[in-house]
Parts: sequence; C-alpha cells; structure tokens
Amino acid sequence: MSAANGTEHVFEVRGLHASAGGREVLHGIDLTLRSGEVHVIMGPNGSGKSTLAHALMGRPGTEVTAGSIRMDGRDLATLPAWERARAGMFLALQHPVEVPGVRLHDLLDAAMSGSGGASMTDAATVSATSLDDRMVDEAKADEVDSGLDVDALGEVARRLQLATTEWGVGILAITHFSRFLVQLEADLVHVMVDGRIVATGDAALALQLEQTGYAGYHDEGSLRTTEP
Ligand SMILES: Nc1ncnc2c1ncn2[C@@H]1O[C@H](COP(=O)(O)OP(=O)(O)OP(=O)(O)O)[C@@H](O)[C@H]1O
Ligand SMILES: [Mg+2]
Repeated sequence: MSAANGTEHVFEVRGLHASAGGREVLHGIDLTLRSGEVHVIMGPNGSGKSTLAHALMGRPGTEVTAGSIRMDGRDLATLPAWERARAGMFLALQHPVEVPGVRLHDLLDAAMSGSGGASMTDAATVSATSLDDRMVDEAKADEVDSGLDVDALGEVARRLQLATTEWGVGILAITHFSRFLVQLEADLVHVMVDGRIVATGDAALALQLEQTGYAGYHDEGSLRTTEP
C-alpha cells in the first residue's frame, strides 16, 4: 500500500487539459507524486486549483480534454469518481468543520473503509492497525483549511502529516495559507497561475509567496490582482 510497508506508488499527471463550464481552465498540468510525499499547490484566485482537484477526481462538469492521470501506470482519466477512489485517490474538499479536525478524519475513515482498508477510529492508533494494500494512497485536499482557526488548522495539518509517515499516503494539498505548511512539511510547492504550473520549489517558496504574493508570476499583459 505504501512506503510504510515497502511498496512505492506513483501518481502521475501528464499534459492535463480540462474544461469547466465550456471553457478550458487547465492548459497542461504535469505532476508526479510518490508515496509519502506532500505537494502543495498555491495560486491566486481563479487560477484553476479547484478545477485541478475536480479533474483529478472525475467530478461531473469538469471535462478532461487531453492528457493522462495515472496511478502506477494505470490511466484513471476516463474512469468515474468511484473507480478512482477505489484505485486509492481521495479528495478532502473545502468545508467548515464543527469540531477541529473531525471532518477530515471522518473522510479519511470513510475512504479507508470504502476501499477495503481497516476502519480508523483515531489517527493516533493507525500505526498499530493492520491495513491492507487497497487503502487510500493518494489524498487531494482542496482547502480543507478554509474556515479553520489556527488550532484546528494545526490539527488538520498534523493528521495529514501523520498519514504520510504512517501510511505512506501521498498528499496534494491546495491551500492559500502558508501557516498550514508549518506542520505539513511540503516536499514540493507548485505555483499555479492561469491554469498552468509556473514555478515549483521547496517549502521556502511558500514563505516567499507569503511575502511577495503572485505578482511576479503572472503572464505578461495580465492585469489580474493577487490574493486579497
Ligand atoms: N463550472 C464553471 N463554469 C465556468 N467557469 C468556471 C467553472 N469552474 C471554474 N471556472 C473558471 O475557471 C477558473 C478557475 O477556477 P477555479 O475555481 O478552479 O480556481 P481556484 O484557483 O480554485 O480559485 P480560488 O482560489 O478562488 O478557489 C476561473 O476563471 C473560474 O471562473
Ligand atoms: Mg478553489
């Protein structure tokens, strides 16, 4: 299932184009995510981050028009969402949480039982639980941090980090909030602008973006403003 028991998985996105509402939003996305890695996608409003999450998960209304989405070489781009979930992909969407960390925990739990893995009642007990090969390997978190206070944010980040180290889950996290990255240690940070990844760096890039915003990354001629 994961680096934790010696099996390495690779999730590869190549030349992904996708449209939503009849217009192309993603203009060629390449990503390679391995077991246990944390990749973070940042970018200004409207740059296509959520559309990427939707395209990867096969959300109806978001159409992949070119490119591939592969898990261990198997192309998932034409499969319905449930089959992608069974292949080990799991999306934690943007939602306010009532109790810190619980919603993500519930989602992880549901993803694991749905894919035949052991059910989890507490992330802290997972390392002692025997999990089978079909457990979730890749999680895509689109702004799970929205609406959370700092303590809850830290708890979500801590749970995600635990998932990478204990289960070998690969995480592609979409966030506006570089504070999220204090507890969630990013291996790579990707900057998305206008449906393309325009820069990739380490965690220092996220801190730099906090200082500078995205102004330096826009296409020439773009008048779009940066994050509020
Ligand atoms: N269903 C749709 N119909 C029409 N346009 C859409 C649709 N979904 C997304 N778009 C457009 O695609 C672009 C990217 O939107 P998306 O929501 O993916 O950006 P985002 O990076 O997630 O933004 P935010 O930071 O505000 O969450 C925007 O210009 C948006 O208006
Ligand atoms: Mg979004």
